[in-house]
Amino acid sequence: MSVFKKVEDGCEDCSLSQSRRGFLRQSLLAAAAALITLGVNPAAALADSFEPIDGRRGHDQTVKYPIPAADGVQIDKDNQVILVRWQGAAYAFNLSCPHQNTALRWDDADHRFQCPKHHSKYRPDGVFIEGRATRGMDRLSIQREGNDLVVDVDKMFKQDASAAEWGAAVVSLTN
Ligand code: FES
Repeated sequence: MSVFKKVEDGCEDCSLSQSRRGFLRQSLLAAAAALITLGVNPAAALADSFEPIDGRRGHDQTVKYPIPAADGVQIDKDNQVILVRWQGAAYAFNLSCPHQNTALRWDDADHRFQCPKHHSKYRPDGVFIEGRATRGMDRLSIQREGNDLVVDVDKMFKQDASAAEWGAAVVSLTN
């Protein structure tokens, strides 16, 4: 499996020149070769990043993901989405910490999110535990479509400003 993302054709407003693309491609190939030399599988090194089935933030306001088969966390860095399946429910969160927008990380050992900047902690359902933040993780609108989850990245709910919408931004997977 290739670890490199396909550069989409027809990118009319793409500002990268061909020579710069070539340079970036060579750099990525060199990095992959270095990882292989060190005995690291480049695909494994990117294991916390995954791509949606369909949609892309900035081009389409919804992105679609297959329902995760088991409890866990997947991070779609391109679309700034955290997708969670946890204890019979699915959630989508904005990747940024609600305090000062640092990318959140998942601590698999403790089953919680942690901010690397000021160390706020959150439960898998986004509920705030402790730290400098003053609300839970920002949830995105999420709907079930058959075996997929459709996330509307333009509909983000802050727990303190939109408590009802925040609470409703969940898909039950128990039925
Ligand atoms: S940016 Fe996350 S706690 Fe400050």
